[in-house]
Amino acid sequence: MKIAIMGAMPEEIAPILEKLKDYKTTNYAGNKYYEATYNGIELVIAYSKIGKVFSALTASTMIEHFGAEKLLFSGVAGAVSPKLKVGDLIVATKLAQHDLDITAFGHPFGFVPEGSVFVEANKALIEMSKQVAKEMGKSVVEGIIATGDQFVANEERKNWIGSTFEADALEMEGGSVAVVCDALGVDFFILRAISDAADMDASFSFDEFLETSAIESAEFVMKMVDKIVLSLNKN
Ligand code: ADE
Repeated sequence: MKIAIMGAMPEEIAPILEKLKDYKTTNYAGNKYYEATYNGIELVIAYSKIGKVFSALTASTMIEHFGAEKLLFSGVAGAVSPKLKVGDLIVATKLAQHDLDITAFGHPFGFVPEGSVFVEANKALIEMSKQVAKEMGKSVVEGIIATGDQFVANEERKNWIGSTFEADALEMEGGSVAVVCDALGVDFFILRAISDAADMDASFSFDEFLETSAIESAEFVMKMVDKIVLSLNKN
């Protein structure tokens, strides 16, 4: 079994590389991929760079070139739901692209012909995350994540995304990674720790909390890997 762990920014995968210590680095398609053996399974780790295009490229590469069979995403997000505060963890149940707009042709926001507004994350991995949260004594919220090539720092835009997609959080990569994994038949799990409230203070909050929130998310994702290893050893 080979598992991909991806983030968008160096800070999002740094805690994972630190934990592994020993890994092999490969340059491929303009990016660095880190391979390691961990508890008897193979891992491939990378940060994609920000946005839907780079994240789709990295997810595709991890699957098609490095042979990843499951993909776990770890990173930070802006809160849409007022219930989510800085440091809280959210697991995506389904994801949409909030900036995909061919409404001029009568289609809903986030939709293109032969696609769908939402892509659902793997239910077994979400179930597993509930057990992990329990064991870690952490509360993890399940919700809808909206993705777009835009750092949202505007209450009006945030509220529009919230009401149009019933989104609980927003970020810039999950929706595109979801499309890639769904198309290639790879189970995926998107976890985000809140870094800001996508409002006028978002950029300051993001800068302040990126590192600590990224650590929260990365620690949880590594526990998910442990759980996957356990479940493989049982079968
Ligand atoms: N990731 C973290 N915060 C974000 C925001 N406000 N907008 C887009 N992506 C984010």
